Amino acid sequence: MVLGWLGWNLTLDALWQPTDHKTISRVLETLDVSSGDLVYDLGCGDGRWLTRVVKDRGATAIGVEIDPFRVIVSWIRVILSGSFSRAKVIWGNMYEVDLTGADVVILFLSEEANAKLAPKFDRELARGARVASFYHKLPGWEPVSTETNEDGLEIYVYQRRE
Ligand SMILES: C[S@@+](CC[C@H](N)C(=O)[O-])C[C@H]1O[C@@H](n2cnc3c(N)ncnc32)[C@H](O)[C@@H]1O
Repeated sequence: MVLGWLGWNLTLDALWQPTDHKTISRVLETLDVSSGDLVYDLGCGDGRWLTRVVKDRGATAIGVEIDPFRVIVSWIRVILSGSFSRAKVIWGNMYEVDLTGADVVILFLSEEANAKLAPKFDRELARGARVASFYHKLPGWEPVSTETNEDGLEIYVYQRRE
């Protein structure tokens, strides 16, 4: 069963790797996430972005995760942190989730996943919506800023202009 789960994970467009907390702090600051924002983390892994969004910025967070094991871990994190009223985790495929209400989208995925998401963002994200992608660029979108974290890894920041 474990081998099956590991093998299935290898079929995903992005494998699990958590964003470090200093990078999360920096991105939340750069994006100026505030209490009125609805923040999506596409491929939310262990849910760490969700609780940070709620606890640090008072915003609302939705995580989308395809791996049921990580969905459970994310829910446990959300519940234990007391973020339940402002955070939820969707067990599902990020390519199929409606993003029309998103103010902010967080990505730590892969080149392939970002390439699939870019046209979806063109269709669904509202004017002014911000996107931060850790490590990988968003094809066809021009970053408004590019930052480097403490490990020298890039964070690309985008905003829907029209
Ligand atoms: C590099 S991890 C990032 C985790 C988290 N966002 C973070 O920054 O700590 C990528 C996550 O995307 C998830 N994932 C991959 N393909 C997905 C899909 N189609 N829909 C939803 N989640 C997906 C993986 O299971 C994994 O947990």
